[in-house]
Amino acid sequence: MQILRNRKELDHILAQIREKNLQIGLIPTMGSIHEGHLSLVKNSTQKKLFSLVTIYINPTQFNDKEDYLSYPKEEKKDITKLETVNCDALYFPKEEEMYPKDLLAIKTVNEFRNILCDKFRPRHFDGVTTVVESLFRVTRPNHVFFGEKDFQQLKIIQTLSQQLKLDITIHACPSVRLQNGMSLSSRFDNFLEKDRKVFDKCANQIRLLITKLKNDINKVNLVDFKSILQKQGVKKIEYLEIRNEENLSFSKTCNKSRLFIAIYVGNVRIIDNFILY
Ligand code: PAJ
Repeated sequence: MQILRNRKELDHILAQIREKNLQIGLIPTMGSIHEGHLSLVKNSTQKKLFSLVTIYINPTQFNDKEDYLSYPKEEKKDITKLETVNCDALYFPKEEEMYPKDLLAIKTVNEFRNILCDKFRPRHFDGVTTVVESLFRVTRPNHVFFGEKDFQQLKIIQTLSQQLKLDITIHACPSVRLQNGMSLSSRFDNFLEKDRKVFDKCANQIRLLITKLKNDINKVNLVDFKSILQKQGVKKIEYLEIRNEENLSFSKTCNKSRLFIAIYVGNVRIIDNFILY
């Protein structure tokens, strides 16, 4: 795996790849690589693409300075993990390469806004779209891989790509989950021992809820379920909603719908979504 520390090194490698008529598969990440990220890389290598992972902890998408500063950084471990899946190259963008003008997030996508995470993390998605647009501009990929775990992010990036009229194929990859059913997240490294117990209990309750929803959605009261989670020790519930996966509007059926959830266990924010059909 080639480790690229600046734009010059990146451009040099990518020029060689394009000369060979190989296609580039981009996997943007913020590092602290886990099986979820690795599944995106595997997806790219299976398509015989030149698989390029980026690791950049993007300051403009954090609303909370503490959250930004405590975001796990695991460079050495990340390199080892990415080598196990035959990733071709790993690029660590520098701040000035992502933000050539100012370290500012620009609002470019208006769809899928003011709901779910956007309600609770103002300007977060502006940070995401700004950095993803920079990554697209710098790496000019043919394919790009995103996880369904961050479903609203995926929808917003699909819209961004359409707006920019870029010839990039976006691949939506299913969540890689822990045994308890919850999607893996880099933030789980920040769990205290007691948080992990609460997390497992919540995961059990969520599994039961999904079974009930699939059996008869009309018999389920989500307000009651919120109290159940709080009794298990959940610190805060931002949202717990059933929405249509195409347009993200509220849904009263399981058809083409998912349960979307954002909760805090200790200081760790957990977001996930679950297919109901
Ligand atoms: P990050 O949280 O590091 O996630 C990088 C990619 O991995 C995203 O596409 C995310 O949806 C995917 N991913 C995370 N957990 C996953 C899991 N359990 N299963 C499958 N895929 C998973 O998302 C970001 O970084 C940033 O917002 C980024 C797009 C890099 C822009 O800064």
